Amino acid sequence: MKIYCIANQKGGIGKTTTATNLASVLAHKGFKTLLIDADKQCNSTDTFRAKTKDTATLYDVILDYDHPLDINEAIQHTLIGDIVAADPLLKGAESILRNDAGEEYFRLKDALEKLTGYDYVVIDTAPADDKLLKNCLIAADEVVVPITADRYGVQGLADLHRTIQQVQKRSNPGLKIAGLLMVKYKERLKLTQETEYVLKQAAFKLQTKVFDTKIRESTGTQMAQAERTTVVKKYYANEIRKSTTAEDYIRFTEELLRGDK
Ligand SMILES: Nc1ncnc2c1ncn2[C@@H]1O[C@H](COP(=O)(O)OP(=O)(O)OP(=O)(O)O)[C@@H](O)[C@H]1O
Ligand SMILES: [Mg+2]
Repeated sequence: MKIYCIANQKGGIGKTTTATNLASVLAHKGFKTLLIDADKQCNSTDTFRAKTKDTATLYDVILDYDHPLDINEAIQHTLIGDIVAADPLLKGAESILRNDAGEEYFRLKDALEKLTGYDYVVIDTAPADDKLLKNCLIAADEVVVPITADRYGVQGLADLHRTIQQVQKRSNPGLKIAGLLMVKYKERLKLTQETEYVLKQAAFKLQTKVFDTKIRESTGTQMAQAERTTVVKKYYANEIRKSTTAEDYIRFTEELLRGDK
């Protein structure tokens, strides 16, 4: 089983779009894939048409100290895919995760050790640098960092890098940064040399690469989200004949899997 964490503290950069579409491509390729929504905003949960009320969520798995739930029992099987939903109650995570000699950072990892039958897990994270993000990074094998190809797209990466380094040093030495993924890419606006340099520098600092595949922007992406599905899923179902974004997420997934060989 391989666990990918999609992370960037910057808000609205494309984490959820990347997590949900990556999970859709992996599932379409025949891999048993589980999406975990670790963001109290519940955007992946919404896209995957999962419930947050009257159902078990990630909260019950990692934050309910009195009656912790086996992660296998928190999985919702929806038309879009398998998911452990987020919960608005995750907003309390920072205080609920009791200081416990560092054990509080291992709640998700411990929960995932009980997961059975999956080839891939994709974790969507919140735009925050908190205990929940540390839980996700400690549980993961690889981090994918979506960024936008503009002057400010790499802002804040130093904070993420510091957190990743801490996790690598103390808790998860095998954690790998798979790469920086350029998202919401506008083909018309060719990358300026300055931006290209900034991105390469950022990748160099993080001792990783920029993925060759760039995810182009398209209105179909937002339409799919409004319909509570992924653009990739619509593309595979022939509901849309062409989608640059879907094609790019398929190519990106293949590039990611090649990198793991
Ligand atoms: N390739 C794309 N083409 C068009 N729109 C996109 C694309 N990728 C992302 N978006 C849009 O950008 C917005 C932010 O994307 P998304 O929700 O994935 O970001 P996020 O990093 O998860 O945000 P947050 O930090 O709030 O969790 C959404 O409206 C989404 O539809
Ligand atoms: Mg999101």
